[in-house]
Amino acid sequence: MTISQPDCSEPVEIAKDIYWVGSRNDKGFESNAYLRVFKGNGQQFNLLIDPGPSPDFNTIAGKIEQVLGADFNLDLVYLNHQDPDVCINTVAFQRHFPQLHIVTSEDTWRLVRFYGLKEKQFIATENFKSGKIKVKTGHRLRLIPTPYAHFRGACCLFDEEQKVLFSGDLFGGLTDTPDLYAEKDYWEGMKTFHEIYMPTNLALKKAVKDFRQQAGDMKMIASQHGKIIRADLIDYFMPKLEALPVGLDLKGESQLVRENYIKAFNAILDKVEKDVNSDTVNTLLKAFQSDGTFPNSLITKNNRIYSLRVPVDDAFKLFSNELCQNLDNNQKKLVRTIVLNCLADWNISVEIPCPGYVDDRHETAAEQAIFEEGQSKTGAESKPLDFDQDELENMLDGLMDD
Ligand SMILES: [Fe+2]
Ligand SMILES: [Fe+2]
Repeated sequence: MTISQPDCSEPVEIAKDIYWVGSRNDKGFESNAYLRVFKGNGQQFNLLIDPGPSPDFNTIAGKIEQVLGADFNLDLVYLNHQDPDVCINTVAFQRHFPQLHIVTSEDTWRLVRFYGLKEKQFIATENFKSGKIKVKTGHRLRLIPTPYAHFRGACCLFDEEQKVLFSGDLFGGLTDTPDLYAEKDYWEGMKTFHEIYMPTNLALKKAVKDFRQQAGDMKMIASQHGKIIRADLIDYFMPKLEALPVGLDLKGESQLVRENYIKAFNAILDKVEKDVNSDTVNTLLKAFQSDGTFPNSLITKNNRIYSLRVPVDDAFKLFSNELCQNLDNNQKKLVRTIVLNCLADWNISVEIPCPGYVDDRHETAAEQAIFEEGQSKTGAESKPLDFDQDELENMLDGLMDD
């Protein structure tokens, strides 16, 4: 189901008195910032959560002004952990608002103080013995530490009134659209982000267990990167994250296998450049050249794939998706044959289940990934080609004759 998406050039009220005030730069690695406005007991208290990276400052400040008016005040900043993309704007906001206080964990403070934040206005999460921040308006925010996800002192914030979990980097992800709200396909970008940034699945398991115990009635997950998860998809993403191998868990892949994939990818690029067109190869290589906003999943050097930063299955999916951009059907067929040949050449056969694909023969990772890039899986045109061993060998012979 496609959900309606708000206009991200404006502040978005994601729950009552909670505003997304982040930026969308459309580079695939977006940062989010949130403004929580508490009103009660005849008072107002303005909290900014994870104020974001410096390139987003003007957008964030502008959106806060749109919500609160030109002479607005900020009372408190909450920092999930110490990274500059979470924190650095706090320095600029504290210059504007000299009384601005900061709540974060002691572990986080030991690092963020070096940004130049005021020590006298730091309040440690550990000081809240009940595990809750009680705001003067009568509202409560529950503190949920998530050690080593990804920093030792990371601590999430749960809004008890609106049931929104501010999850920091957890549930963050890379995105291929500037949309604010997640749909199921957000998982691929979320998976890659966690594989790279989270140290071990143990940390994810503990975090998810604690969320279930302490924020089991949550209605929304508002992370510091990527898309916001609404109530209907929380039970979809939570178990997936809990089970995901990340960081050190992924070291089991042998170097030999990874090198075989790199050699197969580059053999595919050589062949596509020669037999299809060089634009396809150039576009693919450009897609994997990082602009510095995120460590790229496939690293390029001298116009070829040099190393992989993600598991080989994921690398193959990313590679195939990029490869099949902008090809017509005839070119796709040709590229598909090239891919199958090159993978066979490097003894690569990875089984990946293909939802919705009905065929009683085995489908390889190569076939599945090529199909996934948008062709219908029914009908004559998209019917998978049947290669038996003789045909493959014939084709390989043909390649060797070149
Ligand atoms: Fe981080
Ligand atoms: Fe982050």
